[in-house]
Amino acid sequence: MTVKLGVNIDHIATIREARKIREPDPVAAAILAELAGCHGITVHLREDRRHIQERDVRLLRGVVTTHLNLEMAATKEMTQLAIDVQPDIVTLVPETRQEITTEGGLNVAAKSEELTALISTLRNNDIVVSVFIEPDTEQVKAAKKVGAQFVEFHTGKFSNAFDMGNVQEAEQELSAIQDMTLLANKYGLKVNAGHGLNYRNVGHISSIEGIEELNIGHSIIGRASLVGMERAVKEMLEAIRLAERSF
Ligand code: PXP
Repeated sequence: MTVKLGVNIDHIATIREARKIREPDPVAAAILAELAGCHGITVHLREDRRHIQERDVRLLRGVVTTHLNLEMAATKEMTQLAIDVQPDIVTLVPETRQEITTEGGLNVAAKSEELTALISTLRNNDIVVSVFIEPDTEQVKAAKKVGAQFVEFHTGKFSNAFDMGNVQEAEQELSAIQDMTLLANKYGLKVNAGHGLNYRNVGHISSIEGIEELNIGHSIIGRASLVGMERAVKEMLEAIRLAERSF
C-alpha cells in the first residue's frame, strides 16, 4: 500500500503572521494541496498562536475534504477546543514556548494517567487520537496503554543524520523506526511518521511496511514558495511512491 501524504501548512501562517495581515491564507494553501492530491491537512495550533490561529482551524474544518489533523499540546483547554472544532484526528505533541519546532516526542510513559483521561475524553467525542513519540519500545507500549489509536514516529533524528551524511546513524534510526512500526502494528496501533522529511530522504521512510501516513511541512512549503503548491505536493507524492533508498 502506498503511504499517504499529510501536508502541514503551518509555515503559510508563519508568513502571514510576519505581517499580521490576511495573506497568504492557510485555507487557500489547504485547498491547493488537496487539489494536487494530498491525503490530509495538518496544522499545529500552538499555545502562543505564533502561526496557525483558531480562525484557521475552524475554517479548515469547513473546507478540508480529505482529513484534518490537529496537532496540539495535551491540555484541558486544547481538548475543549478540539471537541468544539471536531478535527478528524488529533495528534498530541509536546510543546515548549522556546522551541522553533517540535523538538522531541511526547513522553507518554511519564504522563500516562493524565493522557489516559484526556484521550478518553477525545475518543468519547468521536475524535481519533494519535501520539507523537520517539521510536522507542517503552513509548509504544505506553501509547497502547493510554488508549491512543495511532502513533506518529518522530523522524527528526533519522532526517538530521541523513542530511548530515551520517550513514551509520541514519541506518540505526531507520531500523528503530522499522522495528517500532512492527511492534505498534502488533499492538493494533496505526502508524504515521514525520518531522524533517524532505524530497531526498522520504523514500527511506515511505518504503517501510506498515506506515500509514507521512506528515510533511517545511520541505513542501519551502519548495512551494519557489515552484508553487501544486508542483511541490505532486513532487512529494512521487518521491513517496518511488520509495527510493539511496544514501
Ligand atoms: N509531525 C509533527 C508532530 C510535527 O510537530 C511537525 C512539525 O510541525 C511535523 C510532523 C512536520 O515536520 P516538518 O515541518 O519538519 O516536515
